[in-house]
Amino acid sequence: MNITVIGSGNMGSAFVKQLTRAGHHVFVMGRNAAKAQALAVQYGAAFGPPAAGTDAVIVATPYEEAVAALRQAHLRPGQVVIDVTNPLTPDYMGLTVGHTGSAAETIAAALPGVRLVKAFNTVFAQVLNDGADFGQGRSVQIFVAADDTTAKDVVSTLARSMGFEVVDAGGLRNARYLEPVGALNVYLGYGAGLGTAITPCWLRKS
Ligand SMILES: NC(=O)c1ccc[n+]([C@@H]2O[C@H](COP(=O)([O-])OP(=O)(O)OC[C@H]3O[C@@H](n4cnc5c(N)ncnc54)[C@H](OP(=O)(O)O)[C@@H]3O)[C@@H](O)[C@H]2O)c1
Repeated sequence: MNITVIGSGNMGSAFVKQLTRAGHHVFVMGRNAAKAQALAVQYGAAFGPPAAGTDAVIVATPYEEAVAALRQAHLRPGQVVIDVTNPLTPDYMGLTVGHTGSAAETIAAALPGVRLVKAFNTVFAQVLNDGADFGQGRSVQIFVAADDTTAKDVVSTLARSMGFEVVDAGGLRNARYLEPVGALNVYLGYGAGLGTAITPCWLRKS
């Protein structure tokens, strides 16, 4: 697939690494052009917005910057956008949005026509960077929430291509549940001291 990654920080870098490793054609965009270009060069990706649009755009910026960043990305009608953000408070120990809404729903409302998918927000950048294999036959789970089933299929296929296990988390409204899971992950990793080599997982007895 052709994928645009917006952001060259912790998550953006890890996405570019894993997507290029999985054979995707990646375009890197960022606020800091030199940083984004260096990231693209490091992994053999392209720098800058693609001329013809891509199968999915991953927005890996702070939540507060996501809409502004996406507006620079030449989105086409029906564009699949993957929102990985967690709307964290400055101390990372709380959420600024929740219960009756979510970051994902707010971003979707600001960009009519975009097919927004919430995914990857429960995965630490360090885990993404290390890859989907969690050892002992286990794969990192990606929870995917979206209203558009075709867009959800695109993102699920993309996640599986990188080796992740996909958990269908229902409609976009369920980002209201996924974002608190992301926040709990941050608490456990940093607040409770478990470190960043952890990942949430839903088990099912078969
Ligand atoms: N880190 C994690 O473990 C983790 C896990 C799950 C979800 N998330 C979420 O993923 C998102 C990114 O996290 P991160 O840790 O990668 O943050 P980060 O390291 O601070 O990177 C954020 C990136 O966004 C870029 N950016 C900011 N505003 C922008 C704009 N208006 N247009 C284009 N690019 C812009 C920054 O540019 P500059 O390079 O110029 O600063 C930077 O490259 C956040 O929403 C976070 O909640 C993070």
